[in-house]
Amino acid sequence: MSNMSKIKPRKTIFDVSDVPVFWNNGDQVLTRFFDALSVHFPDGERFFIQSVRNYQDKVTDPKLKEDVRSFFRQEAQHGIVHDRYNAVMQAQGIHVENVISNLKIFIRLSQQHLSPKYQLALTAAFEHITATLGEGFMEGNGDMFRNAHPVMRAMFMWHGVEEVEHKAVAFDVYEEAAGGGYFTRVSALIVGTILVHAIVGVALWQMLKVDRLHRRPVLITKGLNRLYGPKGMLTRLLPAYLAWFRPGFHPCDTGIPEKVQAWLVEYDRHEDPMEASRVVFGESKLDHVA
Ligand SMILES: [Fe+2]
Ligand SMILES: [Fe+2]
Repeated sequence: MSNMSKIKPRKTIFDVSDVPVFWNNGDQVLTRFFDALSVHFPDGERFFIQSVRNYQDKVTDPKLKEDVRSFFRQEAQHGIVHDRYNAVMQAQGIHVENVISNLKIFIRLSQQHLSPKYQLALTAAFEHITATLGEGFMEGNGDMFRNAHPVMRAMFMWHGVEEVEHKAVAFDVYEEAAGGGYFTRVSALIVGTILVHAIVGVALWQMLKVDRLHRRPVLITKGLNRLYGPKGMLTRLLPAYLAWFRPGFHPCDTGIPEKVQAWLVEYDRHEDPMEASRVVFGESKLDHVA
C-alpha cells in the first residue's frame, strides 16, 4: 500500500523552440541517448495508462483510486510535453514515426497476445525503471543533466519528479487488483529491461545516423561509457534497480529523495518548473525559509 503523499498533476508546458540539437552539455551521445529514450514516452505512457485502466474498476481502496486518476493525468501531460519535443526532433530530420515503429509493434502485439495482468506487470516494471531514472536524474551531483540546456533540464526534472511521485501506483494496482505475484513481476522487469535496451538502442543508432555520427566508434564508446561504464551514470543506479528482485520490495521503501522533495516544495511556491530546476541544482536560493 502506498504510504506517500498526494499525487499532484501539473499542467506544465515547456518552450522547446530554442533548444539546440545537442542540448545535453554539447555531448552528442548523451543527448541522443535521452532523445532516443524520450521519443518513446508518449506511446509508452499511453500503454501504461491503458494497462492500469484495465484494472481501474477492480481497485477498491479510495486512496489508490484517487492515485490512479492522478497517475493518468500525470502520464497524459508527459505525453503532451514530449510530443512537442518530438516535433522538434522531427524538424532536425529524425523520422519520429519511423523511430517509434518498433515500440508500436511491441505494444500492439502485447495488447493482442499478453494477458492484461502481464501488461500491468510490464507497466509496473517500466514504472520502476522510470522512477529509478527519475531519482537518478538528481542524485549525487546531478551530472546527467547539470550542464544541459535549462529548458530540457527542467523538462526532465519535472518528468522525473512525477515518476517518483507516482512510482507505486501501477505496482499497487498490480498487487491489489490483479492478484500480484513475485515471479510475474520479476520476469516482467527482465523482459522490460531487455526491451527498453533493444528499442532505445535501435532508436539511438537511427539518430546517430541522421547526425552522421554512426561511424565514430570512439565517440560512441566514450558516450556509452559515461552511461554504462564502471562509474557510469546508469551503472550507479544498479542497486536501486535491483531492489525490485527482493521478494518484499515496495516502491515506497526508498521514500522520496531529498532533492525531489526540494523540487516539490519549490514548485508549489510558484508553479515554475524552470525555477524549481534551478533551485535543485543550487543555482537559486531557497529564500522562502522565513
Ligand atoms: Fe511519465
Ligand atoms: Fe510513470
